[in-house]
Amino acid sequence: MAQIKREQWGSKIGFVLAAAGSAIGLGNIWKFPYIAGQYGGAAFILIYLICTAVIGLPVLMAETLIGRSTQKNPVGAFKKLTNGSKFWQSIGGMGVAAGFIILSYYAVVAGWALGYIYQAASGVFYQFSKPEVAGQYFNGLISDVVWNVGYFIFFMILTMGVVYAGVKNGIERGSKIMMPILFLLLIILVFRGVTLEGASAGIRYFLHPDWSHVTGEAILAAMGQSFFTLSLGMGAMLTYGSYMSKKDNLPSAAVSIVTLDTLIALLAGLAIFTGVFATGLSPNAGPGLIFHTLPVVFTKMPGGYFFSILFFLLLTIAALTSSISLLEVITAYFVDEKGWSRHRAVLFFGGLTTIFGLPSAFSYNLLAKVSFFGLNFFDFVDFVAANILLPVGGFFIAVFVAYFWGFKKALPELKSGAEKLFEKYYWTISVWKILVKYFAPVLIFLVFLNSIGALKLIADIF
Ligand code: PHE
Repeated sequence: MAQIKREQWGSKIGFVLAAAGSAIGLGNIWKFPYIAGQYGGAAFILIYLICTAVIGLPVLMAETLIGRSTQKNPVGAFKKLTNGSKFWQSIGGMGVAAGFIILSYYAVVAGWALGYIYQAASGVFYQFSKPEVAGQYFNGLISDVVWNVGYFIFFMILTMGVVYAGVKNGIERGSKIMMPILFLLLIILVFRGVTLEGASAGIRYFLHPDWSHVTGEAILAAMGQSFFTLSLGMGAMLTYGSYMSKKDNLPSAAVSIVTLDTLIALLAGLAIFTGVFATGLSPNAGPGLIFHTLPVVFTKMPGGYFFSILFFLLLTIAALTSSISLLEVITAYFVDEKGWSRHRAVLFFGGLTTIFGLPSAFSYNLLAKVSFFGLNFFDFVDFVAANILLPVGGFFIAVFVAYFWGFKKALPELKSGAEKLFEKYYWTISVWKILVKYFAPVLIFLVFLNSIGALKLIADIF
């Protein structure tokens, strides 16, 4: 098989923006605010920050390191480091499968965001007097097969277009354009939020911890969220890391990615809660917060028409820079391991993911009555991917680096490009080793047990 030279990022900042783009997505803007809303605002946020520092960052470093050391996709990377162990290759394969599954339903929600840019522009939000009415309207749209599937396919085509153009010309260039726009849009929205009359109640809610909501479940939710939002455990960061040069400083890039991701989640929460409180609505609407509550929030604020369009544009861009990383994992695998051309892999698997995503889009219309373990298809695949595949993947990544590959081999790889850090702040590396070796595996295992427990509970009811 003729070896075509594997692509690399044009620069370290190219990698940081692409990886931050993968991390920053629906998880930050849609999921984080409503989970924080459900679990007591600031108290939850504090726990989330601790989880991110203690597990998120170390596992992100471990996963990216596997990719950069091998310059391969998840399956090829484990193959190379273990001399072909079938077990470890199947862990990589599970990541590729998880990418496929997550993309299939993630793009459905992203399609709703895309469709809502048009809804916002049409001015329809001004007909909604309260969130229930907005919610009914939203339910009406997603139960319309043509609307739901149409925007889903539209979004998949955007995703495929970027990945089709390649690592440097597609993903890196796209991220370099989209990420600054995303920051700008968010800053505008935060500014709008905090300058609203009555915004201080939202800020207080966000900064004042209510410890009564903080249960074991909240801690596990914080950990799961930290995993999902950093795109960990399924090879996206591994694959992006595989295009990284060994001359670049990996720990510092990882810190930048985590910082950006966390900052964006906090800013999104701030923008949303100031709006929600200033207009006297409820912060704990759950998953419907964005599509039920926010449209009403916008109609009640000065300039809301304009800001509502910007908001759904923000959401769509954030989702797009994440969905491309999901498709890239699958693409890299078929290009590296099976010798496919990038174009063929993108068209084939983009198409296949779209077909596999149809039942998720149908979960709100044609298949609304079909349930799997008591969940609709959409919630079922979300549950399997986010609560089972990602933690299991993350667990094995930490265990692999600490116990199988071993720090003796991993550390020189980590050091490459980060020599100064190793000289001056070696203690940070020692902390990383402890976190990867003990903290991450144990804590992730707990998250996983909780997921299984929840699964059993659901099965019992069923
Ligand atoms: N991190 C993305 C988000 O927060 C979701 C994602 C998960 C993307 C796993 C890639 C891999 O929306």
